[in-house]
Amino acid sequence: SRPVTVPEFRAAKGRAEKLTVVTAYDCTAAKLVDAAGVDAILVGDSLGTVVQGHPNTLPVTLAQMVYHTSLVVRGTARALVVADLPFLTYQVSPRQAVKNAGKLLKQGGAAAVKMEGGERTAEAIAACVRADVPVMGHVGLTPQSVNRFGGFKVQRDAEHILADARAIEQAGAFALVIECVPSDLAARITAAVSIPTIGIGAGPHCDGQVLVYHDLLGLFDGFRPKFVKRYAELGEATRAAVRAYCAEVRKGTFPGPEHEFK
Ligand code: KIV
Ligand code: NA
Repeated sequence: SRPVTVPEFRAAKGRAEKLTVVTAYDCTAAKLVDAAGVDAILVGDSLGTVVQGHPNTLPVTLAQMVYHTSLVVRGTARALVVADLPFLTYQVSPRQAVKNAGKLLKQGGAAAVKMEGGERTAEAIAACVRADVPVMGHVGLTPQSVNRFGGFKVQRDAEHILADARAIEQAGAFALVIECVPSDLAARITAAVSIPTIGIGAGPHCDGQVLVYHDLLGLFDGFRPKFVKRYAELGEATRAAVRAYCAEVRKGTFPGPEHEFK
């Protein structure tokens, strides 16, 4: 079916049917997620933790995001591909934001970028939007702020988070991720802005939801936030499959006659 566009994604605001977003970092995962019918695939800088093994997202580089975005785009036929701008690639100036967001579109092939922040990144968002780079915002627990927050904690400063959401809407973003805030605050934000809100750890009242691929599939044990629901246990399935392979190789039952060239 036809690719999902930015205007279509934005127009889903307030519809009964919620928007669905899942992350992916490579072509095979993107194909699976796209075939399952998600509205958007996020190439998240969460790849710093679930792919690279870092304790947070801060070490992720723009070049890595461009590379992983290009892999995901190759595996995606329908979903809107949104790529994260990593830490310190847009906070310095609006000019820096446009230049680096441009790389995610021109070299990576993304349709849009995502930036954390709010009032503090509104100018960068507006500059990208003026340059025809669609932007998704991200408020609440912004993981790139981990050192200021002193850890990954539920964010409860309602007035500031609401002001950030309004600033992102005003700056021209087409959607907004709300991460790890109380459900009633996420509901207030969703009612206050004209763009779709995509929740993660933000309760059921957002216009859509996002989950990290490795969390949804039970592939990641590093940490397990309360808001994660595992829809499969592919970590355990993977261990069992590899154990079975090792056992058969050791016993000499793999490869069998059907795997041989005569
Ligand atoms: O990097 C990421 O995966 C994200 C989502 C959790 C929203 O930013
Ligand atoms: Na992210």
